Amino acid sequence: MRSPRSPNRGTGGGSARSTLRPPRYTRGEAEIDFPLRSVHRHEQKKETSMQELTPAAATEGRIRSRWAVLPLMGVILAGPGCAEPPPGEDPAEILPAARQMFDTIQAFPASFLDAPDVELGRALFWDERLSRNGATSCASCHTRENWGSDARQLSIDARGELTGRQSQTVFNSMAQRSIRWRGDRETGAEQAQGSIVGSMGMDDPEEMVELMHELGYEGRFRAAFPDDPAPVSAENYGRALEVYQSTLVTPAPFDEYLAGDPSALTDEQVEGLELFVSTGCGSCHGGKLLGGGAFQRFGILEDYWTVTGSEEIDEGRYAVTGREEDRYVFRVPMLRNVVRTGPYFHDGSVASLGEAVEIMARVQLGRELDPVEVERITLFLESLTGEIPEGYSSPH
Ligand code: HEC
Ligand code: HEC
Repeated sequence: MRSPRSPNRGTGGGSARSTLRPPRYTRGEAEIDFPLRSVHRHEQKKETSMQELTPAAATEGRIRSRWAVLPLMGVILAGPGCAEPPPGEDPAEILPAARQMFDTIQAFPASFLDAPDVELGRALFWDERLSRNGATSCASCHTRENWGSDARQLSIDARGELTGRQSQTVFNSMAQRSIRWRGDRETGAEQAQGSIVGSMGMDDPEEMVELMHELGYEGRFRAAFPDDPAPVSAENYGRALEVYQSTLVTPAPFDEYLAGDPSALTDEQVEGLELFVSTGCGSCHGGKLLGGGAFQRFGILEDYWTVTGSEEIDEGRYAVTGREEDRYVFRVPMLRNVVRTGPYFHDGSVASLGEAVEIMARVQLGRELDPVEVERITLFLESLTGEIPEGYSSPH
């Protein structure tokens, strides 16, 4: 058996459509082990593999290396200036420290790419006709050239309006705890469903359902959601897009390094990794995606806009929750493929990655990095660049 289970198979079709259930992949009895966030969230109650995404995991004693813990304590307990690596620490210890702080990802198995819900999601993702102006697809703002993100500071939606924030990469994004800069969507399915009246510019989700019928999508929906009596729906549009995006996993040289191949990183990249850890970056950008889990204030030591030159001041999660402690708080972005996904920050205000690194050290950690240190960290970040996933191209 090599077909992904659709979420509502065997659950009575219609009634299951109102709740967004995650897709589950099975091969015989075994569930596929890949970072589909919904599987971790909903299917495994313990969420063990997601815990390392949060800095809190370090304080729970999960990260035991002195080197790894010190910078975090520098941030949490003592403020800036306390993040020096302990004198005399042996650089060879960086691999065990890195293994505690980060984790590997695995490519999505190619043999599942022709599953009906993956293929449906791919068709929807790349179909420009499915939008208000008939010329906008998901891929318009999540381009191949920019590794699943947009090279523009802000994107233009199907109504011709500028988006509120910079378009992030969709690669690896389904493995995150929450979706978007402010974490205001829980799942990829919810996010995609929301974009019908958002980026795709429809007045009503039903308009999209009618359009999908007109464009002959019914057979594909039926194949992907065989137990659903009315398979062409906004919910299933969201689900299929989540499933397709869950295949967009990009292992990189850093995964080989963590798995035990020291030659996967150059000496300069290893120096960059050491700096990344000793400066304190890993305390927020940890786990298998080097981010994507916790929420943190952007600008802990200085207001971010004084260094980014942002024209508009985005209040971050405060606008979502209304809680004072969420002002200027954003989801810590994952750093996989970050070299290819500029411009940087929620408003795309910074074009150069080196500058973004410098700003991070300054406003999050109170550290001034010299140009060589910035270069080394940037070289390390290059080791997080994977291949563009198979299937990230238009099937039309
Ligand atoms: C008009 C441009 C545009 C289009 C079209 C578009 N997006 Fe996006 N996308 C964005 C922007 C901008 C963001 C960041 C929004 C935010 O965080 O507030 C984003 C964020 C996302 C994210 C969140 C990634 C993360 O790391 O949390 C996902 C997933 C995503 N889009 C998928 C899609 C899918 C699927 C479609 C098609 C149904 C789509 N997008 C269509 C611009 C676009
Ligand atoms: C206290 C938590 C924290 C620490 C420490 C931290 N970051 Fe960040 N980082 C964030 C947050 C939050 C953002 C999102 C900022 C925004 O809203 O644009 C971010 C954004 C970034 C970005 C931009 C990513 C993108 O896709 O636009 C890069 C690059 C980055 N950080 C690298 C680093 C480096 C390198 C260090 C160490 C020098 C570091 N960070 C330290 C929380 C942190």
